[in-house]
Amino acid sequence: MNSSDLLSVYDVFTPSMPAREAFVEREALNDRLIDAIRTPGKQLIIYGHSGSGKTTLIERKLFEVYEHHITVSCVKGMTFEQVVLDAFDQLDAFLLVGGSVQQSASWNAQISTLWAQVSAAKMAMVEARSERVLPPQLTVQNLARLVGAAKACWVLEDFHKLDPEEKEKLAQAMKMFMDTARNYPAIKAVAVGAVGTAREVVAYDQEMRNRVAEIEVPLMSDAEISGIITAGAKKLRITFEKPVRESIVKFSNGIPAICHQLCLSACLSAGVGVTQSSPREIRKPSLESAVREFVESASDSIRDRFDRAIRRERVRKYDNYSIVLRAVCEAPLEGATIGELSSIIARIEPDYPVNNIGRYLESLMTDGRGAVLRKDQASGKYFHSDPFIRSYSQAFFRDAMSTSGSSEKHSAVAIEDVIREIERMLEQGSFKPKVRSL
Ligand SMILES: Nc1ncnc2c1ncn2[C@@H]1O[C@H](COP(=O)(O)OP(=O)(O)O)[C@@H](O)[C@H]1O
Ligand SMILES: [Mg+2]
Repeated sequence: MNSSDLLSVYDVFTPSMPAREAFVEREALNDRLIDAIRTPGKQLIIYGHSGSGKTTLIERKLFEVYEHHITVSCVKGMTFEQVVLDAFDQLDAFLLVGGSVQQSASWNAQISTLWAQVSAAKMAMVEARSERVLPPQLTVQNLARLVGAAKACWVLEDFHKLDPEEKEKLAQAMKMFMDTARNYPAIKAVAVGAVGTAREVVAYDQEMRNRVAEIEVPLMSDAEISGIITAGAKKLRITFEKPVRESIVKFSNGIPAICHQLCLSACLSAGVGVTQSSPREIRKPSLESAVREFVESASDSIRDRFDRAIRRERVRKYDNYSIVLRAVCEAPLEGATIGELSSIIARIEPDYPVNNIGRYLESLMTDGRGAVLRKDQASGKYFHSDPFIRSYSQAFFRDAMSTSGSSEKHSAVAIEDVIREIERMLEQGSFKPKVRSL
């Protein structure tokens, strides 16, 4: 084996970084994505669940076509002006490096004049310590001109985290970019956000609709998840025992980050730190330890999501969210329709008025309620967004029911109980709500 083929397991399985070594192509998305990237003047909105693979895809596809990019990651509370300043800051680096901008001499002269203005304005902004006011030269037009001259594209990650007012300005900025594209055909802005936010941003400006490609990055199909395992195993010269592979696919439930995490932990537990010199097989005990580790390290966030799901804003006659969530727990693994859930509720809480449960179900799919549920549009079934949240919920309700007969008691669920639920679930067969794929 060549020493350059020797990879660390951390480079292969990357639960918190864009995938490189264990990358699987998203065939269903590639054509549309490449088309949109190559079409002059076409701006992009890429959206999907957190962890569905947006950043990874951009890194692979967009950056293959574009030599340069500036990426601004939006965080909550950021003003649009800060976003723009951050973009100018990043342009700084490669415009000054030189060589990257292959333009005529007069272009270069224009750009350096503009750049001198921008630098001065940036200083002024820093000195004024204002987060709201941009100096006159730091306009979106000038940003667009610089981005265009540098043949770069502007990537805005997680734009959904901005407040509505800032988002509206963002929509205007994208329009500006498109207008500038007449002079700089390569100019491109890409906004990356959460599910449901694409339409929101485009809706701010009717005119934009035709000039924007909206591309959804759905959760992965089981075959794609399986592809990650195969790709990673090949790089490390290992194999995953069939039941181990199947369990990982099942637990991942369409979320590639979970797949990477379980593979990584299972490898580490089996003592696989780098590409093996002779083939090795990853067996069940390594997976069990990986699952335990996953639950332990994720328990805070799982608990947090669950707490948000059943939080009561005010005391009502019924603890609506708990009742609805408990019904989903009693439903089969692949979920249940509103009608089926109504019958389950009629059994556990006979007097409960079921006509509102649709509203609570929808709400449980939003971030505000921990995004604990998902819905399969085709079958109309609601199901837990991942097997870990299901196991946690089940352990919680089992616990609450056995101690006080109601879900009023609200203490954290022991990790042991969650793991016991997971084992039970594994024995039951498949957790396979059909994740929609393109
Ligand atoms: N095409 C892919 N092939 C393999 N792994 C992927 C792929 N896309 C994403 N991943 C993995 O999934 C996780 C989330 O990916 P990321 O691109 O950060 O998602 P998002 O930006 O949508 O939140 C990471 O662990 C990443 O390594
Ligand atoms: Mg991302």
